[in-house]
Amino acid sequence: MRIGIYGGAFDPFHNGHLSMIRGAIKSKKVDRVLVIPTGMPCFKPARKVTLSPYRFYMVKAALKDEPKCEVCDIEQVFGEKSYTVETLKNLRKEKVVSDKDELFLMCGSDLLFEFESWYLPEEILAQAKLLCALRPGIDEGQARNQAAHLEEIFGTKVKFFQIDGVEVASSAIRSRADWSSEKGIPDAVREFIKCHDLYCEDAPLLHVSDEMYQTLMKHCFTLFRELSGKRLLHSMNVCVLATRYAMRFGADPDKCALAALLHDCAKELPEKVQIDLAAKIIHGYIPGKQILHSPAGAVYAREHYGVEDQEVLDAIQFHTVGREVMTITDKIVYLADKLEPARDYDDLTEIRRCAETDLDAAMIECYLAIKESFGKKGMEIHEDTKKSLAYIRAHRGEKGGEA
Ligand SMILES: [Fe+2]
Ligand SMILES: [Fe+2]
Repeated sequence: MRIGIYGGAFDPFHNGHLSMIRGAIKSKKVDRVLVIPTGMPCFKPARKVTLSPYRFYMVKAALKDEPKCEVCDIEQVFGEKSYTVETLKNLRKEKVVSDKDELFLMCGSDLLFEFESWYLPEEILAQAKLLCALRPGIDEGQARNQAAHLEEIFGTKVKFFQIDGVEVASSAIRSRADWSSEKGIPDAVREFIKCHDLYCEDAPLLHVSDEMYQTLMKHCFTLFRELSGKRLLHSMNVCVLATRYAMRFGADPDKCALAALLHDCAKELPEKVQIDLAAKIIHGYIPGKQILHSPAGAVYAREHYGVEDQEVLDAIQFHTVGREVMTITDKIVYLADKLEPARDYDDLTEIRRCAETDLDAAMIECYLAIKESFGKKGMEIHEDTKKSLAYIRAHRGEKGGEA
């Protein structure tokens, strides 16, 4: 089979990308297209690239019903720097493609002029041929001359196909103040961006340190292997929102981002494993099923993700039911978990509004909402939640300290 390999950051995926995929299939130069969102960029990018699982699941959503096209997670699973030559080798090694398959690296004509400076171009061409898109408005003669030059020095054959899509730049889309009316992106991408509150103006993760951003990116690769897509997207949403709250309320954005990203890291481990992990810090009883992943997660974050900061581990441990005296990091992770943008249960508007200005007021609102919803089911809230509610109220001088 002839397979087009189409890699990119897709930050965000837009109609220009779609026209490449459709154009390649329509040209009949390939039988199907494998779309590969980049994992870790090879070079330190000029800006912080959107966390890779967001980009991966965005492309999946955009191409859900696209025929002869598949989104490949190879760069999410490996998590190393995404050199094209390594990705091509891994595709064969992991049997994503067979040895009999012929690979074509899809590119725009601008890439022909940069190709010689890529990492190990000869080895790339030993794995795949170049398949170059000719877009209306480009200088076709120049592109063909450059292709002839590459053919001569590398002994390869460059193929071309025509596309009719208009030029769209991801950077232009990112900088839109209001992308909801943006015509350059597929509807599924617009929905995805809206649901996960991406490309917003305040871009909270810009406020974490470069070192922490690298750490978050690295952990995303491990989480990708260990969590379902839905839970990983939830964890990243909590991470972004917690960082926003950290900036708003003067907490440490690095600590909040890390604790938030990892808060559910143990949730999909087998129950027995979670019990054994939790038993390392909780003695004498086993927490209920809904709470178990919190202490288990604190231990797992330390042992598996190398987190040593006790404030971060505590925020993970107490994110489900709280504790009597909560740190600002605890409160931020707790609230971000309940209020992240993809949460659609109950009416969160009032609590979200409180969290704009007053962290403790938002905590009280949140506890009371949980108390009410538990009450309707004839259940009591957890003892630690009661204690936390009473403590915050007492601290604010409100009545009802007994919760
Ligand atoms: Fe949780
Ligand atoms: Fe959660």
